[in-house]
Amino acid sequence: MLSQNEQKELVGKGSIDALVEKGLIFSGMKLGLGTGSTAMHAVKRVAELISNGTLKDIKVASTSFQTTIACENFGIPVYSLNSPQLNGELDLAIDGADEVAPSGNVIKGGGAALLNEKIVAYNAKKYVIITDESKVVSGLGTKFPLPVEIIDGARVSVVKKLEALGAKCTIREGVRKCGPVITDNGNQIVDCLWQNDVDPEKMEDELNKIVGVVENGFFTKNKPIVFVAHADGKLESRGL
Ligand code: 5RP
Repeated sequence: MLSQNEQKELVGKGSIDALVEKGLIFSGMKLGLGTGSTAMHAVKRVAELISNGTLKDIKVASTSFQTTIACENFGIPVYSLNSPQLNGELDLAIDGADEVAPSGNVIKGGGAALLNEKIVAYNAKKYVIITDESKVVSGLGTKFPLPVEIIDGARVSVVKKLEALGAKCTIREGVRKCGPVITDNGNQIVDCLWQNDVDPEKMEDELNKIVGVVENGFFTKNKPIVFVAHADGKLESRGL
């Protein structure tokens, strides 16, 4: 049986190989690369395919400092989404997730990178989620708390409004850093555990109407191809 880390490796590498075989990852393309331990396996595989000559002239948009640093270390060229090379759009983006529902709706932001991850995801023609089997759930947000990125000056008022919507809120604390986690964009994260099932499609819009909310971790607007690695070594694809 594969451990969770082995499943992450399987899905990271196997998804890239399958997407290359299907012609969805190709030389010259504009590619969004995600954040987290699963996504790092995909980044590594892209780097291997660049260095063995399978992929040429790939232009990458990164979703975090973590991903940019990995790309720099692997020699993968990274561009701003605003650059003339990317011109605000991508052929495909690939990323991990924290929870994946059968509808293809997901929760992201376990690594606090949800804002840049969503900018990349929603500006990609095709979106791909890669996950181990532990993240596949029937309903979102009652087990894994939904990350909401907020502006510090609105912390108290935003938390009150989130609680009124039924969330149990925790300001995410840093590890080996006193006080709150500060995101790559200088904001804070409120983790929201929903007491009852919520409709992620409605809630994604509802939460972003609260003044002081920058973005939330429901991703419902660009339905992904989903790859799931299983403990028995099987790599499942949905929507490929
Ligand atoms: C980061 C994310 C990650 O993709 C998500 O937390 C999954 O991480 P991992 O692959 O390490 O389990 O959304 O903000």
